[in-house]
Amino acid sequence: MKTVMLTAEQTDEAAAIIRNGGLVAVPTETVYGLAADALNGKAVAKIFQAKGRPMDNPLIVHIAELSQIDMLVSEFPEKARILAEKFWGGPLTVILPKSDQVPVEVSGGLDTVAVRMPSNPIAREVILKSSPLAAPSANLSGSPSPTNAKHVFDDMNGRIDAIIDGGESDVGVESTVISLAVNPPRLLRPGGITVEQLREAIGEVVIDDAVINPLRSGEKAASPGMKYKHYSPKANVILLKGNGDLFLRYVNSHSGENTAVLSYEEENGKILCECINIGRSDDYKTQARRLFTSLRKADEGGFQTVYAHCPEKQGVGLALYNRMIRAAGFEVIEL
Ligand code: TXA
Ligand code: MG
Repeated sequence: MKTVMLTAEQTDEAAAIIRNGGLVAVPTETVYGLAADALNGKAVAKIFQAKGRPMDNPLIVHIAELSQIDMLVSEFPEKARILAEKFWGGPLTVILPKSDQVPVEVSGGLDTVAVRMPSNPIAREVILKSSPLAAPSANLSGSPSPTNAKHVFDDMNGRIDAIIDGGESDVGVESTVISLAVNPPRLLRPGGITVEQLREAIGEVVIDDAVINPLRSGEKAASPGMKYKHYSPKANVILLKGNGDLFLRYVNSHSGENTAVLSYEEENGKILCECINIGRSDDYKTQARRLFTSLRKADEGGFQTVYAHCPEKQGVGLALYNRMIRAAGFEVIEL
């Protein structure tokens, strides 16, 4: 299959491909999504094939207007309304009991469906010109999520119909996922909308154990995606926990030709091996925006070991921690 590159203006072409049951990678403010018509089970099935994704891992449905949610869910409770009003369009996915119209390929056999309204105008235009879109991140299953069109091309060339180039993703990590199908509501994946913001809006929100810990063997994942290996570059990522001096001392005494460091801006010139600048130490938003690009850079440079700071589990730091701890296979060195 030839994969066509489309510009941000070519949303008519993208929508036509979707309406015909094809696959288009679409920019969103979080990461690029690999989109199909969410109401066409056959089209959605192609997503799993293109990504090499297990069929029991359900997909997020993307809408562009609140009215589109009616055909997707069987209930829209008050807390969902509050969250939608406050955080849509934006990086928040809400899980609700599903309607009969949602194909089994989307829900992965669950009786719930994940829905979000992106803020990205290109994604919204494609949705308005076609239909609600089922879209996971547009990477090969297991590799870091794509935050620009080149990342998508590197993973998906020849496997999908088209890619829209909409520049760099703004948030850089996938959306926050909260289940409102349980009481109290449960955070399944941290992202750009923080748990602090969610609690301020709707009160109690429980953080699912799998957000920061590995699943114990035999344990059932609340979100099937959490049980799969994720966000892993080829390099061996090692998280270091400790203050700035200890960090510098450690990496400088363990550095070598095959070593790279995801470093803070303040550390410029203080590290003896290859540095990939991830942003200022206090700027988790920039760090999130650069994280997946940095991991891909480390792989392109052929580095075998990548040292990184272990983020605090607060604000957007929790989203960073959740991705980085998986990239590191849950290994942290206490300095
Ligand atoms: O920012 C994002 O959310 C991006 C962009 C493209 O919108 N999408 C994305 O999709 O990250 P994906 O498929 O890579 O991650 C969706 C996550 C998975 O962990 C999946 O298991 C979970 O959401 N999920 C989807 N439907 C669910 C459901 N009904 N119940 C529990 N978890 C669900
Ligand atoms: Mg993904």
